[in-house]
Amino acid sequence: MTRVLVLNGPNLGRLGSREPEVYGTTTHAGLAERCRSDGERLGLDVEVRQTDDEAQLVGWLHEAVDTGAHVVLNPAAFTHYSYATRDACAQVTGAGLVLVEVHLSNPAAREEFRHTSVIAGVATGTVAGFGADSYRLALQAVAARLDPAASSL
Ligand code: DQA
Repeated sequence: MTRVLVLNGPNLGRLGSREPEVYGTTTHAGLAERCRSDGERLGLDVEVRQTDDEAQLVGWLHEAVDTGAHVVLNPAAFTHYSYATRDACAQVTGAGLVLVEVHLSNPAAREEFRHTSVIAGVATGTVAGFGADSYRLALQAVAARLDPAASSL
């Protein structure tokens, strides 16, 4: 089955209690469960991970390249400044794998510093602003990119 790593960056382990008015009330465990069941329906084998550590995230992106896994990535605050994460993402898409950048909120509608994504230019595409549904839309986009004929998009 097609493997997809859903990777979540810093502070996303706090979902549920972290600024619920911005990020919603779904916990990280709840989000992970939704991703796995959405993946099942789409024929994707989804694994969800979260880290606050940049080196760990870069290591997981290298693992995606080495094992041929597609990626749905919420880089969280790393979105706005982490060239290390960007360079690792470039290796994923450079290897012909799909990488969808995802955000719960719409960073373009928030503070100025969130308007810059150093990831977007090396991602296959971006989904932002739909809360937890952003992840389902991102997984649908992965499935559609891999099999346009079977796409429900
Ligand atoms: C976020 C948006 C980022 O600006 C922020 O630093 C996050 C979460 C989102 O999912 O909306 O931690 O990536």
